[in-house]
Amino acid sequence: METRRLDGYVAVISGGSSGVGLAAAKGLSRLGARTILLSRSDSRGRSAAAAVRAATPGADVSSMVVDLTAPADVRRLASDLSDLDAIDVLVNGAGSVGEPGCIAADIPRSFATNYLSHYLLTRELLPLLNRSTDPRVLTVGAAPALMRRIGPVELDRVTPDANAFGVITQALAWKMLMSMGLNENSGAHILARVFHPGLVRSNLLAGRGTALRLGGTFANLFASSLCPVIDTLASAPRVHIPGTVIIDNRGRPVREPEFVMPDNAARVWNASGQLADSLDKSA
Ligand SMILES: NC(=O)c1ccc[n+]([C@@H]2O[C@H](COP(=O)([O-])OP(=O)(O)OC[C@H]3O[C@@H](n4cnc5c(N)ncnc54)[C@H](OP(=O)(O)O)[C@@H]3O)[C@@H](O)[C@H]2O)c1
Repeated sequence: METRRLDGYVAVISGGSSGVGLAAAKGLSRLGARTILLSRSDSRGRSAAAAVRAATPGADVSSMVVDLTAPADVRRLASDLSDLDAIDVLVNGAGSVGEPGCIAADIPRSFATNYLSHYLLTRELLPLLNRSTDPRVLTVGAAPALMRRIGPVELDRVTPDANAFGVITQALAWKMLMSMGLNENSGAHILARVFHPGLVRSNLLAGRGTALRLGGTFANLFASSLCPVIDTLASAPRVHIPGTVIIDNRGRPVREPEFVMPDNAARVWNASGQLADSLDKSA
């Protein structure tokens, strides 16, 4: 897959302490970008930054602490970043599987981590992204076989009483719609895609029951510590990047489900804002 150097570029990476986010940080640092890793934990962020430096000596990498499911915390982060000239690449890499329970305002924690975190971070960083001449917002998705089969979902609220799979499905659907909305609303100034990372070394199942934990350990034996599709989507000239929302792990376009259309994208952007407001009110 095609890449080019990213010297002078700034990349902000959520989920940067582990898995897909850490792989993004390694890849983009290797291409010369300044990378800023986000984590809820200062020590996890610092040790991820050290791992990036070990992979690319001299890498310009730092970490910042944020809980992406807390709107006020994300605003504080955006304010701390506001001295930057611009953000050129935002990788929305944070995620989880099977998180139980709800955060405030009855929002399932899993939906908050897997979708709302991406919306909140992207929304707050839009002014800095818009200052870039070629901004890119890359949001982690799932296997194309799953994404392209997702049927119509609720567009105005979180589906009440959905099971774990239903919550993840809605989160994936809203990621696709968020990306379509970013492309449309920015008049294609922002290039936004949802990508399948392939099999990347991960801590996703580390805190789960024994069987899942062992499954995760086994999968990590075959997993990569890099994610080439991110390197390509972040760096290749636009003419080489397919003009659709979903991109597979080899950089190829995948046809979106039919409901992924601009009107629905606008509804989801509004609904996401209302969810963020309800979190603010309950804080
Ligand atoms: N790994 C793969 O092969 C693969 C394949 C397909 C899809 N995916 C998807 O990619 C996403 C990430 O998976 P992963 O493998 O990177 O998982 P991971 O290794 O567990 O990493 C998850 C990252 O998300 C961050 N995070 C979680 N909740 C957060 C919050 N509230 N605020 C800020 N950061 C938060 C974690 O940071 P801290 O805990 O340090 O805060 C961590 O860096 C998931 O949605 C997964 O389904 C992964």
